[in-house]
Amino acid sequence: MLRIPAFRVLGRTGASKVSGARRCSSRPLGVGDDAGDARAFFTTPIFYVNAAPHIGHLYSALLADALCRHRRLRVPSATATRFSTGTDEHGLKIQQAAAAAGLAPSELCDRVSGQFQQLFREAGISSTDFIRTTEARHRTAVQHFWGVLKSRGLLYKGLYEGWYCASDECFLPEAKVARQPGPSGDLCPVSLESGHPVSWTKEENYIFRLSQFRDPLLRWLRGDPQTITPAPFYQAVLQWLEEELPDLSVSRRSSHLHWGIPVPDDDSQTIYVWLDALVNYLTVIGYPNAHFSSWWPTTSHIIGKDILKFHAIYWPALLLGAGLSPPHRIYVHSHWTVCGQKMSKSLGNVIDPRNCLDRYTVDGFRYFLLRQGVPNWDCDYYDEKVVKLLDSELADALGGLLNRCTASRINPSGIYPAFCTNCFPSEPGLVGPSVRVQAEDYALVNAVASLPKQVTDYYDNFQIYKALEAVSNCVRQTNGFVQRHAPWKLNWESPVDAPWLGTVLHVALECLRVFGTLLQPVTPSLADKLLSRLGVSATERGLAELYFLPRYYGHPCPFEGRRLGPETGLLFPRLDQSRAWLVKAHRT
Ligand code: MSP
Repeated sequence: MLRIPAFRVLGRTGASKVSGARRCSSRPLGVGDDAGDARAFFTTPIFYVNAAPHIGHLYSALLADALCRHRRLRVPSATATRFSTGTDEHGLKIQQAAAAAGLAPSELCDRVSGQFQQLFREAGISSTDFIRTTEARHRTAVQHFWGVLKSRGLLYKGLYEGWYCASDECFLPEAKVARQPGPSGDLCPVSLESGHPVSWTKEENYIFRLSQFRDPLLRWLRGDPQTITPAPFYQAVLQWLEEELPDLSVSRRSSHLHWGIPVPDDDSQTIYVWLDALVNYLTVIGYPNAHFSSWWPTTSHIIGKDILKFHAIYWPALLLGAGLSPPHRIYVHSHWTVCGQKMSKSLGNVIDPRNCLDRYTVDGFRYFLLRQGVPNWDCDYYDEKVVKLLDSELADALGGLLNRCTASRINPSGIYPAFCTNCFPSEPGLVGPSVRVQAEDYALVNAVASLPKQVTDYYDNFQIYKALEAVSNCVRQTNGFVQRHAPWKLNWESPVDAPWLGTVLHVALECLRVFGTLLQPVTPSLADKLLSRLGVSATERGLAELYFLPRYYGHPCPFEGRRLGPETGLLFPRLDQSRAWLVKAHRT
């Protein structure tokens, strides 16, 4: 079959309103420069198992999942993309949580790690690896990594004295500690940043020569300002590097912390949980076996802002110390609050993601979190916001558009209709008195033609919410197009109406095909339903195959004349109705 270029290269702005005439580019614009066989390795943070998962955890995982799924649309080879997630199971925090629950640490770990695995399965997280830090493969990797640091003279034994926050598993300087009234009214020391209690620690530990790495870290960061995205987080890390960078204690007395990986050849000490946890990213790609190195340089970490210092300072320094390169990208997101408050067990406002998946459907809730979550800022969660967004964008705008263009009363033959080049000439100058196409219609074609490239750029900049906003704007424009030409008023029997009616539907279906393709990373089942309804086969859903409106550009369209898929149900049922029904059912 003739390979047709995917999208036209528009003028610089892509806004040359009625500029339908330019020929297509020979290169699909949805595919970035790094396409081909290049590998990519995405990671989520590994999640603490002291408590059940909440929507913030799911958000971290969804961001990584969407990036990864988008990447697979660009480079479909199954061996080109890896995606790891898992659970962080060692440390004082888990040791204490298990003791408080009256469980052995391993029991707590099995239970909560299982909850994360189940949630991620249900939410369609398409990870290729799930790692638990209590696995033997991980212990081997961590102890090997430790040995490399030791052999390079980067660990020494010294007296560590200072504040330790078990909830955050981190050491804090005096300046980062505040005093707050405790339950008995006495002032208790807490972390200024997180508000969690801290305790004074004085013990002999192994210490990592972190202070030696300030200049190499600065060189790494200045070499590529995209390394940490979005930019304000990059700036924050540069700012931290301006401050003092003391050496880092990387072990604890095992009499105090027994739930962890012992220091090789010194089991009086347990390896610091953050060193242990960070090495998970190497364990999953096979470290210390040699083949890990084919994945390592392509790593993109997706993390929350609270763990930026660990990933952007400690981890790259440890890697450099071990003779490895720092990560390729660190994508940072902010947090979800609930009705304006931080989510916390003590406030009792933790949102259980599994309830949300049940209530709003998997695709609905994925869409909500990724459409509303803006990495630069904290976002506030409340139920009404979910219902409003999903009803307006998925049920009404997108679902309504599909229904309008495929319903049997409008398209009784159930066939992807033909595009008539005389009705919609690609030279706007050819528009004659009998031609009904308008300037706004060319604007729509231009907008949808440039959408895949725009979406790809947004993904590359970790702006998935903007990618979804761009799709949503185009959906709105397409509804405007259909409304403008009111195909329900046209008659298939009329030789004057029929070619134009087919063209209107053809253009709208082509737009829907682009939307369905681009929505796959965020709403995989809904996109599948949409594309199946349009008759788009599994091999026609990648970005390289996304040739929008080829007939307009003078090429054959493989969909023209094809039978539409048989599934005619609603694409996404309105929630306000289903919720009203639920309430009613509950009352009776
Ligand atoms: N175990 C460490 C990570 C080690 S990675 C080598 C950890 N675990 S965590 O369970 O506390 O957090 C995991 C992720 O969830 C982090 O990216 C964190 O930012 C994210 N979130 C935790 N609460 C969140 C919100 N309220 N909102 C969004 N994300 C949040 O840190």
